[in-house]
Amino acid sequence: MSLSPTHFDGESLITPELLAQHGPLAIEMGRTSDDPVTDILATLSIFEVLFQNRSDTAHVLTEMVVYINRERKRLGHGTWKAISPILRQHSICAILHQDPFTDWSFRKPRGYSGDAHLLDYIYLHPNVEKSVSGASALGQRLYAYSKDVSSSVAVRERRDLLAKLVDETAAQVGPETEILTLAAGHLREAEKSEAFRDGGIKRWVALDQDPFSVAVINQQFGGTAVEPLDGSVKGYLADAYELGQFDLVYAAGLYDYLPRAVAIKLTRKCLQSLKPGGTFLFANFAEDMIDDAFRETFMNWELLLRSEADMWDIINMSVDRNKVQADVYTGENGVVIYGKIQLRV
Ligand SMILES: C[S@@+](CC[C@H](N)C(=O)[O-])C[C@H]1O[C@@H](n2cnc3c(N)ncnc32)[C@H](O)[C@@H]1O
Repeated sequence: MSLSPTHFDGESLITPELLAQHGPLAIEMGRTSDDPVTDILATLSIFEVLFQNRSDTAHVLTEMVVYINRERKRLGHGTWKAISPILRQHSICAILHQDPFTDWSFRKPRGYSGDAHLLDYIYLHPNVEKSVSGASALGQRLYAYSKDVSSSVAVRERRDLLAKLVDETAAQVGPETEILTLAAGHLREAEKSEAFRDGGIKRWVALDQDPFSVAVINQQFGGTAVEPLDGSVKGYLADAYELGQFDLVYAAGLYDYLPRAVAIKLTRKCLQSLKPGGTFLFANFAEDMIDDAFRETFMNWELLLRSEADMWDIINMSVDRNKVQADVYTGENGVVIYGKIQLRV
């Protein structure tokens, strides 16, 4: 059933700033203007009223996510990018940002998109429990949706698949296993790895450019096989850290920010860091994510989505396929794609 905007009161439309920027909006029920921005702002006002008046928040948000996605498709990405700053000034944002996950993403307290604390909202980690329980009732209902949207489910699965890959590597290689995680964030997959828990890993280098995240890793895993490294992809590419060779190198939540040329350069470098028979894995969000336009617009979180062909392109440009075994596959709901390259022994 589609939600009909029966509660629209024609008053809670836009902010004074928007009016100043965009001129007065002639919005009436059942009437559309010639200006797509005006129409979208009017529709956002309808959603705003629905959020305020209905308790089925997840239903309203689902409708809104689908609507935003459809409108971006209709107008094209370039136009959408241009109008996004206007949409972000709509008073509906005060509602959407009651969700602590959306709010953190939008505010970017660490100064960049997609930091490890943000991912903790997806992982339902105790680290964010206080912020979730302190949110308004509406904010908690919004979070109940956003934590279980398909991309969040796929990221939790990604963490579990990484832990499984670590365990499989340790089972094959034995106690000498050495692992390198690029853009490690809080290294939450270590909490899920049985091999790590059982002392089956010799060295696990966790590199990240965010000193706050490196400090979190240090606090949780200091004195174990994990070696937190405050470092950047740039430094890694420039051989700044003398890391040695690894049985497994992987990157999740990194390639989504890398343009093609850097992705290829980094893949080549990661392959050079492998011991014979070693494995490199990189993950990327897939195209056609249903919540992509919503995330980009109202969470201010842009990602570089890739197709399976894009993943193969990175692999083919990085290595002679005769020298490796390579595979590209998706997780269960298709939202995250994986590229896996294993060197022959
Ligand atoms: C989306 S989080 C992913 C964290 C973790 N891999 C996970 O899957 O939960 C992205 C991480 O990449 C790190 N990062 C981004 N660009 C980086 C760079 N150029 N060098 C090193 N780390 C980087 C950020 O600091 C952040 O911790």
